Amino acid sequence: MQEEPLIEADHLLAESAGQGGIRRVFVKTYGCQMNVYDSERMADALAGEGYRTTESPDDADLLLLNTCHIREKAAEKVYSELGRIRQLKEARAAEGRTLMVGVAGCVAQAEGQEIIRRAPIVDLVIGPQTYHRLPQAIARARSGEKVVETEYAIEDKFDHLPAPDTKIVAARGVTAFLTVQEGCDKFCTFCVVPYTRGSEVSRPVSRIVDEARRLVAGGVREITLLGQNVNAWHGVGDDGREWGLGELLYRLAQMDGLERLRYTTSHPRDMDDGLIAAHRDLEKLMPYLHLPVQSGSDNVLKAMNRRHTSEDYLRLIDRIRQARPDIALSGDFIVGFPGETEDDFEATLRLVDTVRYAQAFSFKYSPRPGTPGADRSDHVPEDVKSRRLERLQSMLRSHQQQFAEQCVGTVMDILLEKPGRKEGQLIGRSPWLQPVIVDAKSSQIGDIVRVRITRAGTNSLFADHWQDIAPIETVRSSTT
Ligand code: 5AD
Ligand code: SF4
Repeated sequence: MQEEPLIEADHLLAESAGQGGIRRVFVKTYGCQMNVYDSERMADALAGEGYRTTESPDDADLLLLNTCHIREKAAEKVYSELGRIRQLKEARAAEGRTLMVGVAGCVAQAEGQEIIRRAPIVDLVIGPQTYHRLPQAIARARSGEKVVETEYAIEDKFDHLPAPDTKIVAARGVTAFLTVQEGCDKFCTFCVVPYTRGSEVSRPVSRIVDEARRLVAGGVREITLLGQNVNAWHGVGDDGREWGLGELLYRLAQMDGLERLRYTTSHPRDMDDGLIAAHRDLEKLMPYLHLPVQSGSDNVLKAMNRRHTSEDYLRLIDRIRQARPDIALSGDFIVGFPGETEDDFEATLRLVDTVRYAQAFSFKYSPRPGTPGADRSDHVPEDVKSRRLERLQSMLRSHQQQFAEQCVGTVMDILLEKPGRKEGQLIGRSPWLQPVIVDAKSSQIGDIVRVRITRAGTNSLFADHWQDIAPIETVRSSTT
């Protein structure tokens, strides 16, 4: 799976316990955007059972960790978090109260029973394909059973997860994720995702459109379609023809009130003509594309089973840039894959220098048990990996900074998303996914405004001198 670097988002949910007062649930999310989305859907499943949100984590009586398994450190972080939770659980027990602990996500899927062996305080382990069974699993765990739910369910979890409630959507903000595709059949030799998320499954058009409608009805203005290989999405369209992601984007772009579309993450092999045409034609499709290449060396690409060369990738980027000249590219890189030589690494630097990414994520190769890469005998020493990573990141950082500086003095439309740190400021999002800080009233959250960029900071842009663009109706409930 194409996962973003580790992010952590805390979602606090409250459960009203019926008898005996309030029970609270704390969900901590690791890993990619799909985990953020999954955490929300778990919250939706719990909301259907009477759960509701709270502001206070301290008195949570159910803790859910939604975990990531993409790199070693991510799983280790979960185990150390469980160590801390153990103390909390013991302190609770001393007060005669219980704290239930659940582990969800890709570590749950990969490790299963092993989690309960290593961390006996865990009551419930639930893999990503079984979230619709969460309420029942919690009920079983509450009655004392140690629950491990990691079977790939035959039924589609999305058919059983409740649709997001409009009020809950509204509380989550003006941007949202929407999973359209899950799983991966590519089997890159470094990657654990085909084993943790299973094979590729696309959700049907009607379900996606329904969910997008609900999100827009709850005030969402920007939707990011998610998939481990989102551009491998396919389905039968309204016209009875087989659609690719490009056609799906055309369909969603017709929806009133939905102002911006994005998708992530893509594989270079699945960037077809229809999708490139969507970038050319759809104003609502933001000019930003996360298209990981992993390495610039053909030897390494072959060993990684990426099934394309660096030349294929560069040609593809040329075609995309022809279709949408202002598109910004983002990528993922792995340094120190087994067998990577200094020359291979230099080829990666050359590719980066040619493409000039606006944003990028780079990692040292981390052997994942069960993947072909892990079994190789020619592993690259850690210190070599570290040196290469440093060189690569310094180049990527300088390109990213140059991209931000090129924005200074330009006028762009930003979607105002949330309050800034200072009173009277809001944080918006540029078409190129950069946070933009601007003076604005909180009542303007959800508006798209035209700003002029005055300064580039390290991670965000600063803007002033702005004016409302030709009125965009604030649509809260009407959709196509
Ligand atoms: N080691 C290091 N990085 C990895 N990624 C995936 N698997 C590994 C691994 N075993 C990186 C890839 C992928 C991103 C989400 O994480 O670059 O695109
Ligand atoms: Fe992993 Fe490769 Fe599939 Fe992406 S395409 S999820 S990197 S196996």
